[in-house]
Amino acid sequence: MYMSRTIDKEIIKNFTLLKTNQSLVYLDNAATTQTCVAALKAMDDYYTKSRANIHRGVYNLSIRATEQYEAARDQVASYINADREEIIFTSGTTHSLNQLAYSLSPRLSHRDNIVLTRLEHHANIVPWQQMAKHYGFTIRYAELNKDGELNANSFQKVINANTKIVSFTLVSNVLGTVAPGQEIIKLAQASKAVTIVDAAQAAAHITLDVKKLNCDFLVFSGHKMYGPTGIGVLYGKKIFLEEHLEPFLFGGEMVQSVSYENATWAELPYKFEAGTPNIAGAIGLGAAVGWIKKAGIKKMATQEEKVISYAFKKLTPLVKIVGTRKNRIGIISFTIPGIHPHDIAEVLNQNQVCIRTGYHCAEPLHHHLGLNGTARLSIGVYNTTKDIDALVVGIKKVKKLFA
Ligand SMILES: Cc1ncc(COP(=O)(O)O)c(C=O)c1O
Repeated sequence: MYMSRTIDKEIIKNFTLLKTNQSLVYLDNAATTQTCVAALKAMDDYYTKSRANIHRGVYNLSIRATEQYEAARDQVASYINADREEIIFTSGTTHSLNQLAYSLSPRLSHRDNIVLTRLEHHANIVPWQQMAKHYGFTIRYAELNKDGELNANSFQKVINANTKIVSFTLVSNVLGTVAPGQEIIKLAQASKAVTIVDAAQAAAHITLDVKKLNCDFLVFSGHKMYGPTGIGVLYGKKIFLEEHLEPFLFGGEMVQSVSYENATWAELPYKFEAGTPNIAGAIGLGAAVGWIKKAGIKKMATQEEKVISYAFKKLTPLVKIVGTRKNRIGIISFTIPGIHPHDIAEVLNQNQVCIRTGYHCAEPLHHHLGLNGTARLSIGVYNTTKDIDALVVGIKKVKKLFA
């Protein structure tokens, strides 16, 4: 068993769980990352020093809580180069995508289509399927090339004059491949389609710039970027949020004025944040974003690249990796012929190596690739090549046991 991992001391001190469990090899960061100390501390400060509801109170405690919540919005806005009114806090990527599906679909009819891709997570398929049943539009899927990647050509083949929405994942949660976002968005916009970027697997690993991407919407989750669970973001271009998107949740906070007969909506972004939000979660996410900015996302990506390259090299002779090395960031899904992915994970667990198995919420993609589940490792900023060595030891044990 691996008792001591050579972890960058500066990084590890930011992750209490890993610091206090140094024999743990956590390789399930695509599912959720560990929460950084900055986020934990910010949430603790809120609960112990500023606990009150926001926006409503005229007393100091509530004013302080409001300031912290809104400062988190500023942090997130600057992280993706958006304006603060364009940042809506949700419970996560799934919530954000459901909001978009519910709000945009009523504008579509049976003559229209929307374009998704073969790579999508269930969160970017199922809400659209449900809406398609109701409004009659069709769903088209952009195909992968022979390397398992999406490129402009994949989209050219399916986008036509009736395409109203193009929604795609920037980084695949199964293959780790990065899609050419700007190119895809340009193509979609040439057909006047609304563009949605699922950045759940991108937000902690690559620089996101919504102005450069020029997407209409972009969504991500706090818990996959060293922040807390239960908080996420829906970015929308101001013009879309103002003119094209109806609220999905109704109630307090999101209204300007209410009578017994009717209601009018509050200004942006509040019209999309009904009810008491996840105040602590937003504050925690703001702190996590602040921490990433300080650590430097490019520096983090360089470290992750080293680890994933090493993993690719070490695993290639041992397992069947799904997809190629090209355009891939910190995720590798693999199979070992004749051994069930769950058995792989269970044996690895005995060595305190945490990986994911199954469909990773991308069952259609697995079936499309002829796979009945895979094992997946996914790295975070704290992983090192020692973690990959521990994984390799575990995989050799699996192969020996099931030979
Ligand atoms: C690409 C992608 N989209 C959406 C989601 C859903 O995110 P959440 O469960 O945080 O809502 C995930 C989660 O794994 C994901 O990887």
